[in-house]
Amino acid sequence: MTGVVDAALPADFPSLLTPRLEIRGFRAGDAEAFSAYRSDPDVARYQGWTAPYPLASAQRFIEALADRDPWTPGEWFQVAIAPREGGVLIGDCGMRPDAADPRIVEIGFSLAREHQGRGLATEAICRLLAYFFDERGVHRVVAGCDVRNTRSAALLERVGMRREAHFVESEWFKGEWTSEYRYALLCREWVRP
Ligand SMILES: CC(C)(COP(=O)(O)OP(=O)(O)OC[C@H]1O[C@@H](n2cnc3c(N)ncnc32)[C@H](O)[C@@H]1OP(=O)(O)O)[C@@H](O)C(=O)NCCC(=O)NCCS
Repeated sequence: MTGVVDAALPADFPSLLTPRLEIRGFRAGDAEAFSAYRSDPDVARYQGWTAPYPLASAQRFIEALADRDPWTPGEWFQVAIAPREGGVLIGDCGMRPDAADPRIVEIGFSLAREHQGRGLATEAICRLLAYFFDERGVHRVVAGCDVRNTRSAALLERVGMRREAHFVESEWFKGEWTSEYRYALLCREWVRP
C-alpha cells in the first residue's frame, strides 16, 4: 500500500474519463460499495464470487490490487467505475492479458443494480476499448458470458463485439453445467464512437 490512504491504486493504471464516468484504480474507500454490490445475488449470479461478499473480503481484494501490475499475463486485474464528479463506486471492469500473448485482453464487468439500465456499462467499456486499442497497442479484446446472461451479451454486442462461439455445457459452475458465449473484437474492426 502507498502511504496515502485513499490514493488511486495502482499508480500505473490511468484515470480514464467519459462524459459521466471515471475509470480508475481502486481506492481503499471503495470497499464498502464494492462489498455491497458484490453481495447482490443478481450481480453475483454469473460471476466468480458468491454473495454475500463481506466488507473484509472487499478490503483484502482492494489491498491486494495495490501491489499488482495490471498487465501481468494471465492474471485478472480489476479497475473501478465511479461517477466522473466523484462519489461512491458504482461498478468495476476486469481485464486479463492473455498468458501467452498480452496483446490479447479478456474483459469482464459489473455494475451495481441501481446503476444498470442507463448506458453506463456501455460508456465504461467503450472507454476501456479506446484505451486498449489506441493507447496500449492491444490487438484483440475477448469476453465470455453465460448464455442466460442476456444483459451481458447485449452489452458486448452494443459495444461492437462479435459472437464467435457458443460452448455447450462447457463448464461446471456453481453446481451445474453451464453454456458460454465467447465474443471478440479486433483493433482494426473497432468503430470509434
Ligand atoms: C452486464 C451489465 C454490466 C450490463 O449492464 P446494463 O445496465 O444492462 O448495461 P448499460 O449500462 O450499458 O445499459 C444498457 C441499458 O441502458 C439503456 N440506455 C440508456 N441510455 C443509454 C445510453 N446512453 N447508451 C446505451 N444504453 C443506454 C439501454 O437501452 C439498455 O437498456 P435495456 O436494458 O432496457 O435494453 C449488468 O447487467 C451487470 O452488472 N450484471 C451483473 C454482473 C455480470 O453478470 N457481469 C457480466 C459477467 S459476463
